[in-house]
Amino acid sequence: MKIKAIYPGTFDPITNGHTDIIKRASKLFEHVTVGVAANPLKVPAFSLENRVELATRVLANINNVTVCGFDGLLIKFAKESDIQIIIRGLRAVSDFEYEFQLAGMNRTLIPEIETLFLTPATEYTYISSSLVREIATLGGPVDKFVSPIVCAALLKKCAKINN
Ligand code: COA
Repeated sequence: MKIKAIYPGTFDPITNGHTDIIKRASKLFEHVTVGVAANPLKVPAFSLENRVELATRVLANINNVTVCGFDGLLIKFAKESDIQIIIRGLRAVSDFEYEFQLAGMNRTLIPEIETLFLTPATEYTYISSSLVREIATLGGPVDKFVSPIVCAALLKKCAKINN
C-alpha cells in the first residue's frame, strides 16, 4: 500500500531535529510532505516564503520529500493533498500533552487520517527553533543545531536586527 504522510510544523527555522524526523519518515512512507504552516498566531521570525525556501534547500537531497507552505487547517490541506498520515515528533514527555490534544482534535475532525509519532535521535531531543533563534540573536554558535544553510540565514537576520 502506497502511503503519503505529512510532517507539519512552523519550521521557524528548520533544525537538525526536524531533519532527523523527516529522514526517518522518508524511509517509512512513499512520500513525505513537509507542511510549513503559516501560523500567524505564533508571529514567526522568518516569513512563510523564507521558511519554505530554507526547508526546501536543507532537504533537497531526500528524493521522496517535498516542502509546501499552507495557510488554514492542517486536515483540510492533508485531505486536498490525498495524505493519509500526519507525523509528529515527540522529544520529551513534556511534548506529549499538547501532541495528544492536537492528535485528538485532528482525529475528531477527520477520522480517516491517523497521527503517528516518531522520536528524534537523543542528541536532538532538546532542540527548539525559538532557542536556536535566541542563541543566534545573542551572537552564540548554532552550527550544532541547524544546517549551514540555516546558519547563514540566521546570521543574516541577526545582522539586520543588531544593526
Ligand atoms: N526538532 C526540533 N524542534 C522540534 C522538533 C524536533 N524534532 N519537534 C518539535 N520541535 C519544536 C519546534 O522547533 C517548535 O519550537 P518553538 O516553539 O521553540 O519554535 C516547537 O517544537 C513546536 O513546533 P512545531 O512542531 O512546529 O509545532 P507548532 O506547535 O508550531 O505547530 C502545527 C503545530 C503547525 C502542526 C499546528 O499549529 C497546525 O496544525 N496548524 C495549522 C492550523 C490547524 O489545523 N489548527 C488546528 C489544529 S487541531
